[in-house]
Amino acid sequence: MNIHTKAVHSGDRKRAGGHVPVTTPIHTATSYFYQSMEQLDRVCGGWEQGYCYARHDNPSTGALEELMCALEGGDAALACASGMAALHTAILSALTDRRRSIVAADAMYGATVGLLMNVFEPAGVSVRFAGICDLKALRAVVAEAQPGCIVMESSHCSPARSNWARTSASTA
Ligand SMILES: Cc1ncc(COP(=O)(O)O)c(C=O)c1O
Repeated sequence: MNIHTKAVHSGDRKRAGGHVPVTTPIHTATSYFYQSMEQLDRVCGGWEQGYCYARHDNPSTGALEELMCALEGGDAALACASGMAALHTAILSALTDRRRSIVAADAMYGATVGLLMNVFEPAGVSVRFAGICDLKALRAVVAEAQPGCIVMESSHCSPARSNWARTSASTA
C-alpha cells in the first residue's frame, strides 16, 4: 500500500469495537460502507434501514431527533441545520393540506417575522399577527381566522420570551 492509500484507508473507522462511548459521538462522515452496491442502492432507496448520505440523515442527527422526540413526547422529530430551515420546513409541512392562512404571535424573532411577511405572504399565505398572552383574545382570533397553522416561538433571544413567562405554552 502506498502512503496515499494508507492515508485514506488506515485507521479504525471500519473496525467494530467492543467499546461503547459515554456520550453520543458526532459523525462527520458523509457516506458509509456497505457490503455491495446493491445494498447501498436499497439503503438509498429507503428499502433497507441505514444511512447513505449525511445531508439526508446520519447517526448524529438521528440521535438528536430520537432525543427530542422522547423529550417532547412526539411521534417523530426532524432535525434541521438552522432555526430558519426548521421554521420554514415546519410551516410548509403544516400548510400542505390545510388553509393557507397563519395566525402568528406578534412578538417573535425578526427573521421569523421576515419569513412570514417576505416569503409566505407573497406566496399567497395570509398572515395575521396576534398577542399570545391574552388567551381569550387569541382564541377569538383563531376562531375567526381559522388558520392552517399557528406560529409562536420561545427562545432566550426572542422578544416573546417575557410573554412566555406569563403565558403557559401548553395552555396556548
Ligand atoms: C426564536 C428564534 N427563531 C429563529 C432563529 C433563527 O435560527 P437560525 O439563526 O439558526 O436560522 C433564532 C436564532 O437565534 C431564534 O432565536
